[in-house]
Amino acid sequence: MLNKIKELRQELESATAAALDDVEALRLRFISKKGQLSQLFEEFKTVSPEQKRAVGQAINELKTFALEKINLLRESFENRGEQDVHSDLTRPSEPLRLGARHPLSIVRNEIIDIFGHIGFNVAEGPEIEDDWHVFSALNFPPEHPARDMQDTFFIQRSPDVLLRTHTSSVQVRVMEKTPPPIRSIFPGRVYRNEAISARAHCLFHQVEGLLIDENVSFADLKQVLLYFSRELFGEKSEIRLRPSYFPFTEPSAEMDVSCSICGGKGCNICKGTGWLEILGCGMVDPNVLTFCGIDPKKYTGYAFGMGIERIAMLKFGISDIRLFFENDVRFLRQFSGVA
Ligand code: PHE
Repeated sequence: MLNKIKELRQELESATAAALDDVEALRLRFISKKGQLSQLFEEFKTVSPEQKRAVGQAINELKTFALEKINLLRESFENRGEQDVHSDLTRPSEPLRLGARHPLSIVRNEIIDIFGHIGFNVAEGPEIEDDWHVFSALNFPPEHPARDMQDTFFIQRSPDVLLRTHTSSVQVRVMEKTPPPIRSIFPGRVYRNEAISARAHCLFHQVEGLLIDENVSFADLKQVLLYFSRELFGEKSEIRLRPSYFPFTEPSAEMDVSCSICGGKGCNICKGTGWLEILGCGMVDPNVLTFCGIDPKKYTGYAFGMGIERIAMLKFGISDIRLFFENDVRFLRQFSGVA
């Protein structure tokens, strides 16, 4: 009987399979109910007690070997099967997931596009700034609270190195080196020393606009802002300007756009007023022109500034500003295909 076991083992060792059918044949021959192993176990009952130990061990070893061998052969076909899937060029391909643009990029690009159509080019400035470009040249009085560490991130106190709190600093840089006419927008990141909540963050993004030329009036500003709002929020959008104050513009205003969600009837997004505040604007203060080397008797101009997060929140119905900075793919994936 030991000889028979040896022969079967040799047969198994040299067994090959050209197809899955061959593996199945091997399985039937060795480990099915009527296979060789069952027969061996049957014969085992008649083995003399002295031989039982050796024969029993041999049969068990053969069984383990048979199972391993058959599994190995089967696996080799399964793997080959997978390779066949990949090399079959007629099969439809695996769906490839396309990335999405960040909602802030979508809105920034849209704003750049809208102003690009009416001749505004794009300029950028540094995020790490000095007091002159962020405050002094913009006519901030020395005691203005924005100059306080409470409101602004200072990197160094004297000479002042700080993170810009608004993109108006780029106005100054552009006016200092470009003779009018100027017609530009400045997108960029800004920083404020604020507690982080659903509505406020210590970093966010703005787009600033600046136009300097001869005979520029407040009516020009109003017309451009109306054009912008209708492009961004739809043809039916209305705007209203409320008097306001900024050190660098005179007169100054805040602009509201009619609520695009309820169409001006009043809802919880516009808190029942029908209006959404989206930007600050005004005529560039003559002091600022003088500080930047532009003759205020010859030139006038307007400036405006808006927060990109705020506009993205209104456009996409996002209720928490922190979502923009968490990079949760479940949030970001929702914008695939938007732009
Ligand atoms: N810089 C202002 C702000 O951050 C916005 C603004 C820009 C206002 C230009 C008027 C003119 O709130």
